[in-house]
Amino acid sequence: MYIAETVKELTDFLEQERTAGKTIGFVPTMGALHAGHASLVSRSVKENDITVVSIFVNPTQFNDKNDLANYPRTLEADAQLLERIGVDYVFAPNAEEIYPEPDTRYFDYPPITSVMEGPRRPGHFNGVCQIVSKLFDIVKPHRAYFGEKDFQQIAVVRAMIEELHIPVELCPCPIVREESGLALSSRNTLLTGEERKLAVNISRILFISVDYAQNHSVKETHDFVVNTLNALNRLDVEYFEIVNACTLQNVTAWTDATEIQGCITVYCGKKPIRLIDNIKYKG
Ligand code: PAJ
Repeated sequence: MYIAETVKELTDFLEQERTAGKTIGFVPTMGALHAGHASLVSRSVKENDITVVSIFVNPTQFNDKNDLANYPRTLEADAQLLERIGVDYVFAPNAEEIYPEPDTRYFDYPPITSVMEGPRRPGHFNGVCQIVSKLFDIVKPHRAYFGEKDFQQIAVVRAMIEELHIPVELCPCPIVREESGLALSSRNTLLTGEERKLAVNISRILFISVDYAQNHSVKETHDFVVNTLNALNRLDVEYFEIVNACTLQNVTAWTDATEIQGCITVYCGKKPIRLIDNIKYKG
């Protein structure tokens, strides 16, 4: 496994691989890798001749400076994990390498970016598109792997790929969960033992709500999830939206779309920590 820190190093290597007819799989990450990331990487290794993983804590997608400063950085452990999985190239640039000049491009894909995380994290998806478009341009992958944990991110990246005609196959991968059901996230390490137990209720209630939805309306299912979670001390639902999985717009009836997803963000614990999760109701 080769760790490249500059664009030139990486593109020189990848040019040779492409000339040799190799297919390139790509997994963009911000590091602090866990089994969720590992599942994307394993799938890329299986489906492509060459796998590239980027590790870059992208400053332009953080709307909170503290969040950026506190983001865990564990490059050595990350590299060991990626080597074990069979990754060929890690791309770990610094910010000057990626942004020698401030990125003044502006990406917005309403109505997909107008809901859920969009208005609550101003600039976030613009930053995601800035970095993902640059990384696609550098790596030129045949396939790119994204986790459904960030359900809206996938929809935004799909819209960008279509708008810019980027020749990459977007490969969504299922959420990896702890045995308890809690969706794996680098933020889980910020929870105390008690808060972790509390956080398990998020997925637990989402799973129960899938059965509940069989004989209740969209509104009843929505209210069941929000009220049950909010009734627990130190869980505070920021939003829960039951949406058309393609457009991310609210549905009012289970017949409104062929694919329906429930997306939730919950503040958990004393500090509190912001956790996201989602569940499929239909499709
Ligand atoms: P990061 O949060 O590091 O996540 C990298 C990828 O891992 C994303 O596609 C994310 O959805 C996926 N992932 C995280 N937890 C997962 C889980 N429990 N199960 C399945 N997949 C999971 O998302 C980003 O980085 C950044 O926004 C990035 C796309 C790298 C752009 O900077």
